Amino acid sequence: MLNKLKSIKALDSVRWRMVGVYLLITILALVAISGTVSGLMEEFLVSQRTKTQLDATAELAETIAGDLYVTDTDELFHYIGERAQSMGGRVLVLDSDSVVQMDTASRQNGSLLPYREVREVLRGGKDSAYGFHHILRSSEEGVFTFNEESIWAVYYTVPIVRDGAVTGAVLFSASIQDVVDSLMAVTQRITMVFGIVIVAMIIAVSILSGWLARPIAELTSAIRRMGTQGYVRVDVKGSSEIAELGNAFNRMSERIEDHDRTRNEFVANASHELKTPLATMKLLSETILYQDNPDPALMKEFFGDINHEVDRLTRIVTELLKLVQEDSSAGGLNFETVRLDTLVGGVCGRLTALAENKNIALRTQLEPVEMQGDSMRLEQIIVNLVENAIKYTDEGSVDVSVSDEGEWAVFTVKDTGIGIPEESIDHLFERFYRVDKARSRSTGGTGLGLSITEKLINLHGGSIEVRSKLGEGSTFTVQLPVRQRGGAAE
Ligand SMILES: Nc1ncnc2c1ncn2[C@@H]1O[C@H](COP(=O)(O)OP(=O)(O)O)[C@@H](O)[C@H]1O
Ligand SMILES: [Mg+2]
Repeated sequence: MLNKLKSIKALDSVRWRMVGVYLLITILALVAISGTVSGLMEEFLVSQRTKTQLDATAELAETIAGDLYVTDTDELFHYIGERAQSMGGRVLVLDSDSVVQMDTASRQNGSLLPYREVREVLRGGKDSAYGFHHILRSSEEGVFTFNEESIWAVYYTVPIVRDGAVTGAVLFSASIQDVVDSLMAVTQRITMVFGIVIVAMIIAVSILSGWLARPIAELTSAIRRMGTQGYVRVDVKGSSEIAELGNAFNRMSERIEDHDRTRNEFVANASHELKTPLATMKLLSETILYQDNPDPALMKEFFGDINHEVDRLTRIVTELLKLVQEDSSAGGLNFETVRLDTLVGGVCGRLTALAENKNIALRTQLEPVEMQGDSMRLEQIIVNLVENAIKYTDEGSVDVSVSDEGEWAVFTVKDTGIGIPEESIDHLFERFYRVDKARSRSTGGTGLGLSITEKLINLHGGSIEVRSKLGEGSTFTVQLPVRQRGGAAE
């Protein structure tokens, strides 16, 4: 239970990390987009506005510079008032000490204006300047002031130049609140849309990651259960990568199950095989032991039997060891270049006596084939197959051949023996499997020969195939690759 909780927690943290990463990416993208959009809007709206108004201010300053000392003050004030109205703002004329000389709103006459824009054109030598100010504007009606509201305004300043000297400045102030308002509206819209997008994304990613996480959690708990409940299969749906993972898990579980079953069977079979001679030996020795005056002839016969069983035990143990060795030394073959035909010829030569004893003709047909292989193991393969052919043939012949088939060296052993029933062919290479236990036993078989043979062939990268008909004979065909992958020494 605790374990399960832990795994779910771990997955949840993966899930939330996923959500977090997606969220971060989305927010970054949205911020970048909104920044760009509002930046572009602002630039477009504001720069257009300031450029026109700054130009108008400069023009006004030039006119004033020409008229200041020639025109009558009232007339000039009137003129400036008109211009201010047509430009949509308020105009102030300052002297060179930043003191207001003329204010179209008539509110700041005589006061000193401490603004940066003013300083820049009066003392900084700039042709023009402007700046944004957050100001309180009071709407006036009659003598009352009401509804003070703060707005954004732009102050444009242009110097009044006369005979090359700066004699004052024109300050034009206009509201830019309309632009700020529309920018705010746009920003609000964008923010709202982004909010919706982010919420939608969080929901979508949580659902999606849940879809991803659930099967993984199931798989994890299945793997956990496997430790305690034996073999577990998970239910696989669909064909996603996760389903693929589930399938792979099921295959693995199956293979482990298979492996365990074979191992258990093997242990059971091996114990059984070892128990039979031991039981026989115990019976024989007890028979002698509990007889007061055992007949020497009988004793000799029993000891002969015991000896026979000891031989048998030795053979079984030797072959079992061989089998285990091949199991653990997979890939540990000593590859060298060998002549398969020579090896087969040698083995057949040594087994001729055995065949002659049974009146069986052992014939060979050998084509020269050079291949990479472990000569000791190859010889074992040949001995096992030819020995079987002689052992399970009562009359007739055993034909052994080697042929060169390009990439493959093919070795066949064909006999006219007792044959193998169809239902046994599939089991032939299992450990301890014998078609006829009694017969195999009397000929000293352990049922391990073919499983060793198959293992050795597999280690060489080859394959073995059996064709047989009961009462007519069997043919074992072995295909071995001429060259080993990974390039053994030539
Ligand atoms: N050439 C053959 N003809 C008929 N039966 C065979 C032949 N080779 C093997 N078999 C059957 O396959 C069984 C397994 O062979 P093997 O593994 O070599 O064990 P064994 O020790 O009995 O020879 C044998 O017991 C026999 O029943
Ligand atoms: Mg055999």
